[in-house]
Amino acid sequence: MTPPPGPRGLGLLSTARFFAQPVKGMEAARRRYGPVFMIKFPGFPAEVFLTTADLAERAYATDAEGGRAGEIRRQFLEQLVGRHSLLTLDHEPWWRHRRLISPPLHGRAIARWKAEIGQIAADEIAGWPLNRPFPLRDRMQRITLEVIVRLVFGMRESPRGARLRAAIPELIEIAGRPTLLFMPPRALEWMLTARAPRGVPFLPTTRFAEVRAEVDDILFAEIAARRMAPDPDATDVLSMLLAARDENGNGLTDQELRDELITLLEAGHETTATALAWTFERLLRNRPVLDRLRAEVAEGEEETYLEAVVKESLRSRPVVYDVPRLLDKPLELNGHRAEAGWMVSPLIMLIHRDPEAFPDPDAFRPERFLGPDAARANKAWMPFGGGRRYCVGAQLALMEMRVITREVLRAVDLRAVDPAPERPKVRHVTLVPAKRARVVARQVTNAQEPPQVQERPQGRKRPAERAKAV
Ligand code: HEM
Repeated sequence: MTPPPGPRGLGLLSTARFFAQPVKGMEAARRRYGPVFMIKFPGFPAEVFLTTADLAERAYATDAEGGRAGEIRRQFLEQLVGRHSLLTLDHEPWWRHRRLISPPLHGRAIARWKAEIGQIAADEIAGWPLNRPFPLRDRMQRITLEVIVRLVFGMRESPRGARLRAAIPELIEIAGRPTLLFMPPRALEWMLTARAPRGVPFLPTTRFAEVRAEVDDILFAEIAARRMAPDPDATDVLSMLLAARDENGNGLTDQELRDELITLLEAGHETTATALAWTFERLLRNRPVLDRLRAEVAEGEEETYLEAVVKESLRSRPVVYDVPRLLDKPLELNGHRAEAGWMVSPLIMLIHRDPEAFPDPDAFRPERFLGPDAARANKAWMPFGGGRRYCVGAQLALMEMRVITREVLRAVDLRAVDPAPERPKVRHVTLVPAKRARVVARQVTNAQEPPQVQERPQGRKRPAERAKAV
C-alpha cells in the first residue's frame, strides 16, 4: 500500500499562500490528488486530510482504541487550559473527565438556561449602535462570554465576576497571538516562568502570565467559596461539577476544576460567537431565507426552519475546519496507508462541500435539512467533529445559536455593509469572516424607512440603564 498522494513538503511561502485562501487551496489539492491527500506543513508531522464523510468516520473510529486528539492540542493549548483539560488529556484520564463534564452540558440540563440566554442577548443587543457599521462578531462574543460566565461558571453580579469579565477577553486575546501559539512548548514554558524574560514588561508572554495569574486567582477563590457554601439548586456547570463524583467516589480537584472551566471558556466562547457571525453573514446575503425565517420567528415559538438555518450556516461555514487525530497504529484509507505517528484529519470544510452529500454546495439552502434529502445531509454534517471526542458543548452551542438568532431578528433589522460575501480567514483552528461580519443595525419597527439619527429602540434599556432602574 502506498502513502497518500500530495504536495508533501510545502515551503513557508506556499504555506502562507495556502492559508490566505484555505478553502480554495484545499479544493485544489482534492481536485489534483483525490479524496485522501497528504500535506507536510513546515514544523509539523505529515497530515493526511480526509474529504468525505465515510473517510472521516474511519478517523473517528480510532478514538475507540484510545485516540490521541489531546496530544496534538497540548502544544498549542496547555499553557492556557492546563494539563487537566478535556482538550489536552487522552486515554483514561480524559474519559474520566468526559464522564463528569457531559451531564451538566446535556440537552435536558441546559434546557433550563434558555430564558436566561435570551435575556443576556436582549440586554446586549439593546446596546448595539444604530445606523452605523460595526463588526457583529465582536458583539456576539460579548453575549457568548456572558453565557459562559453566568451559566457555566455560575458567576452573576459580584466583584469577583466583574474582575473576571474584565480579565478574560485579554487572556484569550493574548493566548491566541501567533507568537504564543506557535512558540515551541519548552521555550514558552521558559518565557513564562524564568526570572529574566518575566522581568521584561512589554513581552506578550509577561502580560499573558500576569493575566493568567489574575484569572486563576479569581477562579480558585470562587471554587473555595462555593465549596464552603454549596447551593444544591444551582444549575450552573461549576456547581454541578463540584457535586460530581467518579465511580471511585472522587470529585475533581481545584486544579482540575480550574482547568476545565478555562477549557469550556476557550472552546465555547469564540467558536459560538463566530458561528453566529457567519449565520448573519449568510442570512443577510440570502434574502429569501431571511424573509422566511423572519416570518417563522414572528409567528411564534416554532423552530423548525430556525434549526435548519443554524445547521445550514454551520454546514456552509463550519467554524472549526478540521479535527486531527494522531495515529497509534497504521490506518488504511482508500487503498493508501497512513503510518503510526502521523495525523489524520477529517477536513470539515471540504466534507461539507461534497456535492454527493450536499448538492450545489455553494448555495445557502436550509431546506436541504428538511426535505427527503435530510438524512443524507445529516449523515455528512459534522461541524462538531465525531467519535468519542465529539464536541461536549454541541447542544449548548446549537441552543445558543437558535435563541440568540431569534432575539436579534426580533430586536433589530440588520444589513450587510458590503453585499459581497466575506471570505473565510484562518484564526487558530477556526475560520472567521474576514471583516468580522460588518453590519448596520436599524430599528426593526421602521425597517423600510431611510436611516435616521441614532436612537435606542423603544422599551429596551441599555444594561446600565436597566441596572439603575432596579
Ligand atoms: C458553534 C460552536 C462550536 C463549534 C463549531 C465547536 C466545534 C468543536 C469541534 C469540531 C470539536 C472537536 C471534536 C473532535 O475532535 O471530533 C470540539 C471539541 C470541544 N468543544 Fe466544541 N464547538 C462549539 C461550541 C462549544 C461549546 C459551547 C463548548 C462548551 C461550553 C465546547 C466545548 C468543547 C470541548 C470541551 C471540546 C473538547 C472535547 C473532547 O476532546 O473531549 N464547544 N468542538
